[in-house]
Amino acid sequence: MSLTCLLQAGMFLYGSIERFILIKTTQYSFMLVVAIGILFLLIFFAGISHKVQRFKKAALQNEYQDEEKQETIVNKLVSSNELIYTAIVLCFLMLAVWAYFYWRDSIYIGHWQEWMNIVIRWLHITFGIAWIGTSFFFVFMENSLHKNKKRPELKGDMWMLHGGGFWFVEKYQVAPKVMPKGVHWFKYEAYFTWLTGFGLLFVVYYFNAEAMLLKADNTSLSAGTAIAIGVASLAIGYTIYHVLSLTPLLKKPLLFGITLFFILIGFAYFYTQIFNPRAAFIHFGALIGTFMAGNVFFVIIPAQKAMVKATKEGTYLDPAIGNFAGLRSYHNNYFTLPVLFVMISNHFPSTFSHEYPWLILAMLSIGSAAVKHYLNLKEKDQESVWVIPIATLILFSTIFITAPEPVGGECDTVSFTRIYPIIQQRCVSCHSASPTDDVLTAPPNGVVYDTPQDIVKMADKIMQRVVITKNMPQNNKTGITPEERDLIRCWIEQGASVQ
Ligand code: HEC
Repeated sequence: MSLTCLLQAGMFLYGSIERFILIKTTQYSFMLVVAIGILFLLIFFAGISHKVQRFKKAALQNEYQDEEKQETIVNKLVSSNELIYTAIVLCFLMLAVWAYFYWRDSIYIGHWQEWMNIVIRWLHITFGIAWIGTSFFFVFMENSLHKNKKRPELKGDMWMLHGGGFWFVEKYQVAPKVMPKGVHWFKYEAYFTWLTGFGLLFVVYYFNAEAMLLKADNTSLSAGTAIAIGVASLAIGYTIYHVLSLTPLLKKPLLFGITLFFILIGFAYFYTQIFNPRAAFIHFGALIGTFMAGNVFFVIIPAQKAMVKATKEGTYLDPAIGNFAGLRSYHNNYFTLPVLFVMISNHFPSTFSHEYPWLILAMLSIGSAAVKHYLNLKEKDQESVWVIPIATLILFSTIFITAPEPVGGECDTVSFTRIYPIIQQRCVSCHSASPTDDVLTAPPNGVVYDTPQDIVKMADKIMQRVVITKNMPQNNKTGITPEERDLIRCWIEQGASVQ
């Protein structure tokens, strides 16, 4: 019994792979050789990385006469491993690009895009959780440290209970006298969150720029220019933020926050002028994410490297360097909730379909940053009575502002026979078990309108997306008319019946 199952599964897998891989082997055997080459490279680097890890472990355990020699060895191994990781990431990138060219003109290209989307999104969320999790955790510790009068070299210490064990953490004012061995760095979470996010920007928005990035009524901007503007805006935005934080304003948190907020809203406004609202939302989120990752890459990690160097050499280190990095890390902490809110809201048309999407972005950002502020105060036992009410008020106002306008007007009796052709013409190219759309190969969200029952079942959601928020058909690719939207409204208001 189980053997037949296994056999069947094996045959099925073989059949699928054959269909998928061999579509055009005759012309493309060269491509297959390239793919096998990249795979070998990947295995090769993975193997080396494994070896290097083992060397490092051995080097750390080995009792060396010469401490310095041991350290140089370990450092060399660590940096060579970083190179290997980069090589592995590049291999995956090459594979993805390879797959794109291999399946570009086949029915599999939509499938390829969807899986790129799934996998990169999954990585993005996973790295993001790890990164924001550590950010929360360290700011929480920072805020909850207990001063220890007997140990002036410490900023504080604290006991914690987690995972069935007691933990004791000490934070140094600057650095310990001797450089400890095997210090753990937190940086890859940040780098990979940014890299995967940047990848997603391409997979979701840039590869289908006509449909996903540009405004529906766009006539002037080419896809290439729009993409270039999107990418450049991240670099320009970060530079502005960085320069701002070099001014004396940095020492005045409230003023700094307000200035930065207006700069961000400027960007939000700019994005909504050139991109469609959903793409504008994601670029706003990507911009804040770039601030965060940039803080880690350009400020925090270099500062930590300087600290390590000074500790090793026993030289004086200006605490200002660490404090500056600390502040930027604190900024990151305030960015976390807004960035998460923005990333999520980009999936909900009631947020980005508002007439002024930048206003919604502004409210979501300030409201959620205020929630973070409250949490930070609370951890420091400085609870404030007014922060949460204000944050709640702002966030709740967003709900009211985004509420739909009543759509209305007199209706004649609309029978289903008038609705069915509209849905056939305007929706089924995407929402069908076998879509004919040039990009989508599977019905979006699994929603199909192949039978009358399919349509009736979804009447509420159709009302929401076609009549109220008007963001279906997506980017109005199929050119639905206002009259047709109104017919759909009347039909649903009259009970959405198929009779
Ligand atoms: C060009 C392709 C395309 C066309 C045409 C299209 N849609 Fe969609 N639709 C999508 C995509 C992609 C999604 C998922 C993303 C989203 O929710 O915005 C979606 C989502 C939806 C949802 C939300 C489903 C859910 O589970 O939340 C509804 C409802 C919907 N479409 C209705 C319609 C109707 C009605 C039409 C025709 C008037 C239509 N769509 C035409 C691509 C399309």
